[in-house]
Amino acid sequence: MTRSIWQPWTDAQLVCSPSTEQLEAHSSALFHADCAGELPDETEPVEGLQMSCERYHRPVMVDEVVKIFSSVPPGLVVDATVGSGGHSQALLASLPYIRILGLDLDEDALGVASIRLYEAGFWGRVALRHIGFDRLVEISSHLSPHGLSGVLFDLGVSSMQLDSPLRGFSYQRSGPIDMRMDRSRNSVTAERIVNAADPAYLAKIFAESGERRFAWRIAKAIERTRPLHTTKELADVVRSAIPAAARRTGGHPAKRVFQALRIAVNNELEVLSVALPQAIELLVPGGRCVVISYHSGEDRIVKHQFRLAAGGGCSCPPGLPCTCQSNVTARLVFPKSLPPSPQEVADNPRAGSARLRALEKVAVSGGSPSTHTLPSSLTPSPWGGKKVLGVGISSSGSYRSPTASRRYR
Ligand SMILES: C[S@@+](CC[C@H](N)C(=O)[O-])C[C@H]1O[C@@H](n2cnc3c(N)ncnc32)[C@H](O)[C@@H]1O
Repeated sequence: MTRSIWQPWTDAQLVCSPSTEQLEAHSSALFHADCAGELPDETEPVEGLQMSCERYHRPVMVDEVVKIFSSVPPGLVVDATVGSGGHSQALLASLPYIRILGLDLDEDALGVASIRLYEAGFWGRVALRHIGFDRLVEISSHLSPHGLSGVLFDLGVSSMQLDSPLRGFSYQRSGPIDMRMDRSRNSVTAERIVNAADPAYLAKIFAESGERRFAWRIAKAIERTRPLHTTKELADVVRSAIPAAARRTGGHPAKRVFQALRIAVNNELEVLSVALPQAIELLVPGGRCVVISYHSGEDRIVKHQFRLAAGGGCSCPPGLPCTCQSNVTARLVFPKSLPPSPQEVADNPRAGSARLRALEKVAVSGGSPSTHTLPSSLTPSPWGGKKVLGVGISSSGSYRSPTASRRYR
């Protein structure tokens, strides 16, 4: 007989398979295929965590994330991109007074996260939902009507997704040109864009992703050779469109093209622009929002959105008392983005492009005029030495990037 374990406030279900007597999440088929089934018996403590070193990738900038969230008040933290649950596990292990609501568009990732967090003994403090983070208000409001203690976004694609050829994210492994985070709902695949989009649209998204010099050549080469069906075919076309001399520098030319397609398929910049104001709005005073982004397009949105929330659109001259009736609601935890440590990049080159930004919600100052550059608003960073900026006014403004127009034939 199949036994089920349900949490009162979670959709995630663990079932005990009658044939293998192994615990399985309801959507963990790919996980088992990738991990060859057996759950390892041996786990070892890593900085207070019980986790297997080999089975899971170390989450990007995990020590920094834990330190930044260590000051948040007790309550619900949303891991908006729970992936395989690495950041969630670290946060639950270090902060016993929080619960986690983990979101992901990828059902396979949720399967892995549920098993990982169950095995680590945190199941009673976790809820997982298969939903996009742009629906943060809707999903978190009934679980925590008084607001959130934290929101974490670790953007982009996971190692698990990159390493699975069937997902089509990798130019290094041949598979279908899919690239959907959510294969259950989103019907537009990268293959459809590659084979049907106007070359001008392709050139535009390639250029926006950093492939400025050869965007048009690559788009025209794709148009000449389509239909294309595998990631290898696509990577080869991109490579052949680049002059031989230019191929020797800057890594594989398909990297930026694949990134551009993935961002377009999943509407990544638009949903981020929608989600960040929601996250900031939902935080309780002292609550923090942390975003790890992996390319300049994402980081630009985070920087803009955080500065908007921390500055509130106030037009008063810097250094003078604010007289424009703005309310202080947020401050930047660091004036600039943080990169990963050189050691982390050496251990995990995929972390190399990561940039972390953090914002803290502050109590609204009961109507009295606020000042933008108060020395008292400088607070120590989690690193101890540095000082951080305490600026911020109302969060009334919200930024939406112009929705990218898609043109299909
Ligand atoms: C870099 S991984 C996160 C890894 C995770 N922090 C961990 O420790 O395992 C990014 C995850 O975000 C998910 N994702 C991407 N866009 C999303 C969205 N709009 N809403 C929810 N999840 C999303 C992806 O499916 C992927 O699993």
